[in-house]
Amino acid sequence: QGAGQQRWPLLGLLLLLLCVSGLQAEGESEEQKCLQEGRNLTVTCPYNINKYAFSLKAWQRVRSNGLLETLVITETRNADLNVAQAGRYLLEDYPTEAIIRVTMTGLQRGDAGLYQCVIHLTSQNLVILHHRIRLVQCSGLLELPSVPALIFVACGFVLNKGLV
Ligand SMILES: *[C@@H]1O[C@H](CO)[C@@H](O)[C@H](O)[C@H]1NC(C)=O
Repeated sequence: QGAGQQRWPLLGLLLLLLCVSGLQAEGESEEQKCLQEGRNLTVTCPYNINKYAFSLKAWQRVRSNGLLETLVITETRNADLNVAQAGRYLLEDYPTEAIIRVTMTGLQRGDAGLYQCVIHLTSQNLVILHHRIRLVQCSGLLELPSVPALIFVACGFVLNKGLV
């Protein structure tokens, strides 16, 4: 048991480094989701109810050159529900719950890319909500756990070892 105990500090330190760097990356990060052709994608974005209950909401694609393409945007400022639909993009804004729900139906290969929920104050004044969503082609049937999930496990492990 003595020899086993000796190794924990080093392993713990390594995991702690991974943990800290992972959490830092997480702050500015994107959430990756698998693009499954033909399926629907649903994304939920919470927002600050006090600030933005009556603001317009939009779902945008962030092109690789940084250009923003608004795919769907609300046009009403109701207190209970605002719904907007444009082609395969549906945006439901629930001010009472302070969330936006976006649904992209019939996913296609070309949908791979970066997306974001925004509060649309003006076209020049956007507030990006939550983290951006990156739709990626996932090969094979096996879905690997996401990086955030691995970090979560690693951090839990470190905390656990640290406390014992
Ligand atoms: C996708 O959403 C549409 C519209 O809500 C629905 O009719 C369809 O059944 C959904 N498809 C899948 C695969 O869930």
